Amino acid sequence: MAIAQIYPSLLAADFGRIADAARAVEGRADWLHVDVMDYHFVPNLAFSGDTVTALRAATETPLDCHLMISDPDRWAPGFAERGAANVTIHAEAVENLPRTTEAIRAAGARTGLAVKPATPVEGYADDLHRFDLLLLMTIEPGFGGQTFMDSVLPKIQAARRLLDQRGLDLWLQIDGGVNAETIERAAAAGVDVFVAGTAVYGLADPGAAVEALRAQALR
Ligand code: DX5
Ligand code: ZN
Repeated sequence: MAIAQIYPSLLAADFGRIADAARAVEGRADWLHVDVMDYHFVPNLAFSGDTVTALRAATETPLDCHLMISDPDRWAPGFAERGAANVTIHAEAVENLPRTTEAIRAAGARTGLAVKPATPVEGYADDLHRFDLLLLMTIEPGFGGQTFMDSVLPKIQAARRLLDQRGLDLWLQIDGGVNAETIERAAAAGVDVFVAGTAVYGLADPGAAVEALRAQALR
């Protein structure tokens, strides 16, 4: 049975009122998703370590940092030091996977492995034990508001089987295009953790949107 956690993505919030956006889902969102982009790994720029420090002071909700940056080996541990509860690095960007995951954990955070839609999970099967979370992107990373890629559903099902067969206790997370319509088939495919930006902050009551998405995932 999937656990159906909902992580609102602050990328879809009003950038002039990020702390208010965090508080708008306090007590209702499981964690908050903080996208970090560098104009290099993806063609967009978003939150930084200073954002994480500011959010840490503004909310009790644990922070899930999704690093869409080049050279995560260098930068990822700093996000853990600033109080992120989880730091996810992209498989396509990391150089020394064992060293970087150990550094993130030594700094006190959980750690996740993210893969873009076209990156197979199988090549990382023997590294998954180093992680607490596996993020399967359901859009090309870089921008919110894109359409959920149904073509990723078989990959989600295969990843679910792989985790279960190997007895790996990772949370299976998806990010991109999650909404009241797509969340049901993703949940059926075995997703535990749903990141949702537009489907939370695009609505008048973000807290109620979180509750509605969780209910849809558990149907
Ligand atoms: C995009 C980000 C996502 C983004 C999702 O690369 O990683 O977290 O905010 O946005 P929606 O939910 O609108 O697709
Ligand atoms: Zn993200």
